Amino acid sequence: MNLSVGKGEIFGVIGHSGAGKSTLIRCINLLERPTEGEIWVGGVELTGLNKRDLQEKRRKIGMIFQHFNLLSSATVFDNIAFPLTLIHTPKQEIEKKVNELLELVGLKEHRNKYPSQLSGGQKQRVGIARALASDPDVLLCDEATSALDPQTTDSILKLLLDINKRFDLTIMLITHEMHVIQSICDRVAVIHAGGIVEEGPVTEVFLKPKHPVTKEFIDRDSQGEDGFRLSAASLVGGSQLVRITFLGAKTYESIMSQVVRETGVNFAILQGTISTIKDTPYGKLKVSFEGSKEDINRTIALLRQRELDVEVME
Ligand SMILES: Nc1ncnc2c1ncn2[C@@H]1O[C@H](COP(=O)(O)OP(=O)(O)OP(=O)(O)O)[C@@H](O)[C@H]1O
Ligand SMILES: [Mg+2]
Repeated sequence: MNLSVGKGEIFGVIGHSGAGKSTLIRCINLLERPTEGEIWVGGVELTGLNKRDLQEKRRKIGMIFQHFNLLSSATVFDNIAFPLTLIHTPKQEIEKKVNELLELVGLKEHRNKYPSQLSGGQKQRVGIARALASDPDVLLCDEATSALDPQTTDSILKLLLDINKRFDLTIMLITHEMHVIQSICDRVAVIHAGGIVEEGPVTEVFLKPKHPVTKEFIDRDSQGEDGFRLSAASLVGGSQLVRITFLGAKTYESIMSQVVRETGVNFAILQGTISTIKDTPYGKLKVSFEGSKEDINRTIALLRQRELDVEVME
């Protein structure tokens, strides 16, 4: 694999179970040492460091896990303080830092509780606070929301986005849910059988997936494919199926109605969705155009002229 993640970026890695996601992310802080190749973090080659320097560098790479990995016999406060007590940070300093972190992750009232008294979402907030205790430059998240319900997942994703912006923290996260990638990632890599099969900005990969594995992840997320097939099958002859993709501000413009008014072509909407990728709006529309071949072709050309992505379907 050859992969680079930019500073301040939220980089997602998606793949099926066993694809090698955890192995990849564990290589980044050398929890797993690759048999070949180099790992560079912030201009330093980790694979070339001695044990002591590596330990030092690792403190600047935080990590959170699917099953939180908290100390069950320690309070919330002590869990968060753990990385600091480990390096003998003065008590006063720990107190100040942990209080800040408790505030940041919204757990001020829970500081003296034990992990068993917390919900999954709260446990992950403790995990995040602990990972942030040594002011890392990079945060690695291995399926950090996979054990959480959809609502709690979204609140944790919001927190990750917030700390990414606030501290210009580089985040690499691993997931098998397209939804997670779509909500907060800037770029994504799709991994399959130990290799990267597709990589790029989420808007690109999500709207124009190339590899079958990527398509599968996206189709699973967008329901109604069967309904579309049914309605497409009952179309009259002479109509043309097209898939139109809107991106950014174009999503909300009345381009379609302007163009068909000009060409006189009619259309039926067979499937449509409007959503966002991180903070970019997009729309996907499947329609059938009815009219003369010539008028339909002119419609498609005009839509493309207005910078919509139009794909003619079989
Ligand atoms: N230490 C190891 N030695 C040999 N094989 C391993 C080792 N660790 C993982 N594997 C194998 O490597 C492959 C990738 O495992 P990995 O845990 O990275 O997958 P993953 O994508 O994180 O899967 P999941 O979504 O289930 O967590 C698997 O086939 C696994 O059995
Ligand atoms: Mg894994």
